[in-house]
Amino acid sequence: MPDSSEPVLTPIVGAEQLRTRGFEACVGPPPVVLEIGFGRAELILELAAAYPERRFLGVEVSRKRVEKSGRRVTARSLRNVKLVHTPAEYLLERVLPEASIAECWINCPDPWPKKRHHRRRLVQPEFVEQLSRVLEPHATLHISTDHQGYAEWIHGVMSKAPGFRNLHAPAPRSETRPPRPETAYEAEWIAEGRSIAYFDYVREAEAEP
Ligand SMILES: C[S@@+](CC[C@H](N)C(=O)[O-])C[C@H]1O[C@@H](n2cnc3c(N)ncnc32)[C@H](O)[C@@H]1O
Repeated sequence: MPDSSEPVLTPIVGAEQLRTRGFEACVGPPPVVLEIGFGRAELILELAAAYPERRFLGVEVSRKRVEKSGRRVTARSLRNVKLVHTPAEYLLERVLPEASIAECWINCPDPWPKKRHHRRRLVQPEFVEQLSRVLEPHATLHISTDHQGYAEWIHGVMSKAPGFRNLHAPAPRSETRPPRPETAYEAEWIAEGRSIAYFDYVREAEAEP
């Protein structure tokens, strides 16, 4: 048991450290919740405070956001959060072990609205294939977007991805915010009368041989 009077050491871990020291040694025992592109870390911090028995791993490509969020983790004395500064694609492909994640959140990823930039969108078939590899059987995947075009794109990619059951079927998604902490951006967007699309899936267990 960690001594609660001890200061929280830096919650920031390197992707290479995760790979070489071992996932469980760095992050802790399961269940592990992953947030991809956590931005200002509002959601991951609230969830980590609400579920101290779960481990939270956040990945973010912006160094500034990782450093700022790291300071917030320490200030709140959260012992169950680790943050990694690396592209999520690298983390999924090269670092995370198979079936290591019990829940994954991807909130309002950059929509890249111009057609010539669509290939930069995070939700791509190859990315979802890697997600499927790192998610445990029965793990949940939550994706949201404030962009109509990206919502259609996400539905297109996810409906072709094997092994994911859409929890809103036969509808592609829900427009109702799931019961979880709201980010400042979401609150502002909704207050302006606009909507957010919420996609929720379960990673199905492999069929028994
Ligand atoms: C639009 S912001 C949303 C932030 C937060 N999820 C929210 O809902 O407030 C998208 C975030 O994803 C991060 N991001 C973009 N591409 C990424 C990637 N390949 N891997 C990890 N993070 C990424 C960006 O730096 C940014 O912080």
